[in-house]
Amino acid sequence: MIRHPSVDPGRRSLLTMAGVAAAAVLLPKSLVAAELVATPGQTEGPFYPVAFPADMDNDLIRVTGQAARAVGQVIHVEGSVTDTRGQPKPGSVVEIWQCDARGVYRHPRAAGQGHIDQAFQGYGRTQVDAEGRYRFRTIRPVPYPGRTPHIHFAVHVPGYGRLVTQMYIDGEPLNARDGVLNGIRDPRARRSVIVPLMAGPGQEPGALHGTFDIVVPA
Ligand SMILES: [Fe+2]
Repeated sequence: MIRHPSVDPGRRSLLTMAGVAAAAVLLPKSLVAAELVATPGQTEGPFYPVAFPADMDNDLIRVTGQAARAVGQVIHVEGSVTDTRGQPKPGSVVEIWQCDARGVYRHPRAAGQGHIDQAFQGYGRTQVDAEGRYRFRTIRPVPYPGRTPHIHFAVHVPGYGRLVTQMYIDGEPLNARDGVLNGIRDPRARRSVIVPLMAGPGQEPGALHGTFDIVVPA
């Protein structure tokens, strides 16, 4: 005969009540824990375009009218624009800008204009879809004097405004010494702007893929 462990009815109801009480205490905390980390704002830097390129779509490695492809490691960066509760923000516009593979920004005050990669668009913008998703095809950012590799982002979010930030690459040795990145004191916020790049399924050969989600306060 199999003996079943018995719990007397009084004890069972006490246990049930304890469970309900524990759930009531834990619920608000678990809701807080489920909140997404708001993307920290970062300096715009001195090289936001003063004039937009004729071609400013979300493919920065092809410039309309040019046969050449941008120099550099191709990466696909995609993500979503949501609030901290995970609600998508349709209607958002995402802009990015970055230096070319030689570290030159497409900007009149940036050094090296004579050596700029004319096949690199340098700037792009796109509107998110109904789920708040965006994507860019660009090059892996490179270091330039004083900075670890990064891509500048400006995101226009309906009901919130303009969020300016920067995206970094996981594993870059200069990340540890970059003053702008390490100016984000909250470790979770700092981690939220550091993106691993990996070979992605369905990507073009040799291209890497990264996900950078933009989160604004609810
Ligand atoms: Fe920069």
